[in-house]
Amino acid sequence: MLPRRQDFGMKKSGGPRNSSVINFRTTVIPGSVRRSSAVLPSVLTFLVIVASGGLLLMIEKGMLSSMETPPPRGAGKRQDFMRQVGKLSPGAEDVDSQILQEIRNRTIKSMCSQKNMPHSIMSLTPLQRKTLLQHILVNDQYHFLYCYVPKVACSNWKRVLKVLNGVLESVDVSIKMDHRSDLQFLSSFKPEQIQYRLKHYFKFMFVREPMERLLSAYRNKFGEIESYQKKYGVEIVKRYRKTRAKDAPVKGDDVTFAEFVRYLLDTDAERMNEHWMPVYNLCQPCAVSYDFIGSYEHLERDSEFVLQRIGAPPHVRFPERQTWYKPVTTETLHYYLCTLPQKLLRELLPKYILDFSLFAYHLPNTTTEHCRH
Ligand SMILES: *[C@@H]1O[C@H](CO)[C@@H](O)[C@H](O)[C@H]1NC(C)=O
Ligand SMILES: *[C@@H]1O[C@H](CO)[C@@H](O)[C@H](O)[C@H]1NC(C)=O
Repeated sequence: MLPRRQDFGMKKSGGPRNSSVINFRTTVIPGSVRRSSAVLPSVLTFLVIVASGGLLLMIEKGMLSSMETPPPRGAGKRQDFMRQVGKLSPGAEDVDSQILQEIRNRTIKSMCSQKNMPHSIMSLTPLQRKTLLQHILVNDQYHFLYCYVPKVACSNWKRVLKVLNGVLESVDVSIKMDHRSDLQFLSSFKPEQIQYRLKHYFKFMFVREPMERLLSAYRNKFGEIESYQKKYGVEIVKRYRKTRAKDAPVKGDDVTFAEFVRYLLDTDAERMNEHWMPVYNLCQPCAVSYDFIGSYEHLERDSEFVLQRIGAPPHVRFPERQTWYKPVTTETLHYYLCTLPQKLLRELLPKYILDFSLFAYHLPNTTTEHCRH
């Protein structure tokens, strides 16, 4: 459920996570997902259980509409904005959002309570911890931690952080985003300082449908960015394109989606580039108990919620979509997934299964029936 204002500052941290309603027959071992596609059936069973939990919740939440929404923290404009958002979607969106949060919350709780899952950052391997800490941005003034996920509006969130720091005047200043400067990463703190922030700060992250994120990374990096074509594209073409003439120069600017997927299947999730590394590995939602997990699919609403929750001043807004923004449409995703050889697809989904299940996304329908349309 969406945290209410009164909860602020009293977040229990590392509270009992053993409310394991469900016992798995098979246990998911982080990092081993790549090898064991046997995990898939149990996760599917699990998803069905989660889905029915969601239904129950909806029934429970029949009373939800009568509950008052959390009082806005900011004054003036932010309240007005919230009222407008409220008008566009009279209550329904709010209830949906709370249900989704609750489903994610329950799923994460029960999956993470399995004994092989990490329970704190100390139970991560040094490599896992390093990746995590390098992806958590810190704001000491507003007391929050944001785990950024590339391809999930992270540039926009970084802009917001820079405005909150006072480095940028407004989120609309048209500069190219510098992804390192003027940002504070949790990895730059000492262990006690890290623990303190993890315990006391408001922690959030944003997620996106896993295949959509992957496709977005593929189209952006291999379609547009020369350094990626050189660094990854050349290697991928050399490794996977058997038909190429041996002495022809390889530019790496025409990697196909199937070749990219082959490359992903051969790469250890923990060593992937951050643009396609599973969100699970970037943000470790079992080791860090996030207070809020927003969705790219409800970016505007969820971002506004976070801004309100951290007490951002009213003039700090979440930026509008950039004009050059090219959305991944349902049709595009359908096309790419349906043209992918079944064998690759069957291995790809397990690789990202924790992102699907923990954050409550359906597995894509890639039956021949569905793909015919
Ligand atoms: C999950 O629920 C707990 C309380 O039961 C709450 O404190 C926490 O913020 C929730 N987390 C998310 C991501 O909604
Ligand atoms: C997949 O799509 C087909 C055709 O649209 C439909 O008949 C089938 O029920 C769907 N399967 C799932 C699991 O949604």
